[in-house]
Amino acid sequence: MSANTHLNVLLLGSGGRESALARAIAGSPRLGKLFIAPGNGGTGAYGTNLPFAADDFSAIAGAVADNAIDLVVVGPEDPLVKGLRQALEGTGVAILGPGADGAALEGSKDFAKEFMSRHGIPTARHLTVDADNAQAGIEFLASLKAPYVLKADGLAAGKGVLIEQDLDSACAALRTMLGGQFGKASAKVVIEEFLSGIECSVFVLTDGMGNWRVLPPAKDYKRAFDGDEGLNTGGMGAVSPPPFADASFLEKVESRIIAPTVRGLLAEGIDYRGFIFLGLMNCGGEPMVIEYNVRMGDPETEVVMPRIKSDVLELFMAAANGRLADAPELETYSDTALTVVAVAGGYPGSYRKGDTIGGLANPADSIVFHAGTRADESGNILTNGGRVLAVTSLAPTIAQAAEKSYQTLENISFDGMRYRSDIGSDLK
Ligand code: AMP
Ligand code: GLY
Repeated sequence: MSANTHLNVLLLGSGGRESALARAIAGSPRLGKLFIAPGNGGTGAYGTNLPFAADDFSAIAGAVADNAIDLVVVGPEDPLVKGLRQALEGTGVAILGPGADGAALEGSKDFAKEFMSRHGIPTARHLTVDADNAQAGIEFLASLKAPYVLKADGLAAGKGVLIEQDLDSACAALRTMLGGQFGKASAKVVIEEFLSGIECSVFVLTDGMGNWRVLPPAKDYKRAFDGDEGLNTGGMGAVSPPPFADASFLEKVESRIIAPTVRGLLAEGIDYRGFIFLGLMNCGGEPMVIEYNVRMGDPETEVVMPRIKSDVLELFMAAANGRLADAPELETYSDTALTVVAVAGGYPGSYRKGDTIGGLANPADSIVFHAGTRADESGNILTNGGRVLAVTSLAPTIAQAAEKSYQTLENISFDGMRYRSDIGSDLK
């Protein structure tokens, strides 16, 4: 492949994360054609939406052949955990995303904890139990201090983590989980020591050959309401960089967590080409891993991608081909990026779909990433999910970026629209 060759890309997924990936890929001078499957009401601005699900392996293989795709970029974790990489092996296409073996870092919390133990990666102390040794779990819980953290081993749609305030409720929760509360996902339960500190997310692009690039760090706002009140959500806003993730903290993340993670994967024969999402707790300046994900975060991607100055397609292709060693270093913009997520009324509980979104034209000072949206036959944009839009702005300070996003949001409306009004206000 010569440096002048244009690359055709198939991006899988449909959220705000995929909108931000699509915009970044579309900005590359190396891009031939970009396809997004299934995409949303906004991704058509960056490429061509294809009408099949991100885990429809036979449709994906067909689209790769029909459109001479050079690179498949995988947004969500599902297709990876289900073995998309193996399913596409025969096509010879480059894939940004690990095989099922690497995806177990997200697909099995027990695997992730054991991996961290094997490689000396700092994380909370834990014990994994199943129905046959529940008693050992009760004893382990009794040896810990409140609060108590219980995690379903498998994927549970983001709901599989329970934090219990006293020992009795923790023991009861353990029994309920092992009894099938999250189906097969909680047949094994990881019991963990509670970590206190500030959370942040760090994203790594790696190539299966022991090379990596660290992408800008971000802080996610998970709770539904201002002041971190209310239920957990997929994420109501994000800021990059969070000021507490300073150079000394990030140096520790790289030497104590990223290097042993990438080298550990290599040593275990896991050919991991894709993103590693480190969910971290900053415990008084010391980074600890809360969890790994095998994809980018949402809405973190909506602040991480706009801060990258480098040609992301060149980096993605290099990672997928095992050639990051030859790729340039990552260049970023120094401005802060901040995103505010506008959600449908009722989210994260039940919510309505199909409301018309007004005011999307010409958002002067922000990037409006579509998430849960779709276009109808006349081109109107309708709500189509809980998290509807992510409005990102860049500015020299957090306060200035926030002001721009909130100003843009004043012009946008749909029935039941709601957003947090305090994104970034806790950070200085
Ligand atoms: P997860 O669904 O794995 O993202 O976990 C949900 C949330 O639970 C995390 O974002 C943390 O806020 C919290 N959490 C998970 N593990 C721990 C832990 N060991 N100590 C404190 N909080 C935790
Ligand atoms: N925003 C957190 C996640 O993507 O899991």
